Amino acid sequence: MDAVHQDIERILIPEEEIQRAIDRLAADLTRSLRGVPLTVVSVLKGSFVFASDLVRRMPLPLHLSFATASSYGGGTRPGELSLTLLPEPGELAGRHLLLLDDILDSGRTLARLRDELARLGPSGITTCVLLDKAARRAVPFEAEHRCFRIEDRFVVGYGLDFDGRYRNLPYVGVLKPEVLARAAPTGAGGPPEEASAR
Ligand code: IMP
Ligand code: MG
Repeated sequence: MDAVHQDIERILIPEEEIQRAIDRLAADLTRSLRGVPLTVVSVLKGSFVFASDLVRRMPLPLHLSFATASSYGGGTRPGELSLTLLPEPGELAGRHLLLLDDILDSGRTLARLRDELARLGPSGITTCVLLDKAARRAVPFEAEHRCFRIEDRFVVGYGLDFDGRYRNLPYVGVLKPEVLARAAPTGAGGPPEEASAR
């Protein structure tokens, strides 16, 4: 089997199921956001696959922007986030923002990002996530749209990484325990407490 697939213990959400969910979400958003000056804000790196599939199903004259979020100090202090917005100041004012992320976990990333974006004077913000781990929420935050709710398990694929890898899997899956254990001593990007592998 191919190098990345062989590390997967179980496919949690198959590719076809993800694609069907994105079809529905795109149709919904295309209806509700028609006629609105729209900018999609994709949170790097994890949402790049989700954003890419979603915008190609939304036949609207939208703009695309990116933001990055990473935790300080290898995640020893969860909640301390460093955020970078790639748009130029003023670029988002008066526009409706569609904020996209791969997964809503503690909620800290999206809560912070939404606050920062709100300061730039958009006409509105709609948040969409592919996955929602509601059981892990540490701050009150809900996305307007989510494709799948999942239980509290560390997952990879479809943009989500472990130690920088597996983002290119077309499905969402769970890693074999020995793969997780192998990488754990390095401390970098290990699941699930650190959340440094955004
Ligand atoms: P939050 O601020 O805790 O909601 O963090 C969300 C970020 O943590 C996501 O954008 C992911 O990068 C990362 N994350 C959370 N859960 C997982 C997971 O199961 N696999 C891979 N990355 C995850
Ligand atoms: Mg991420």
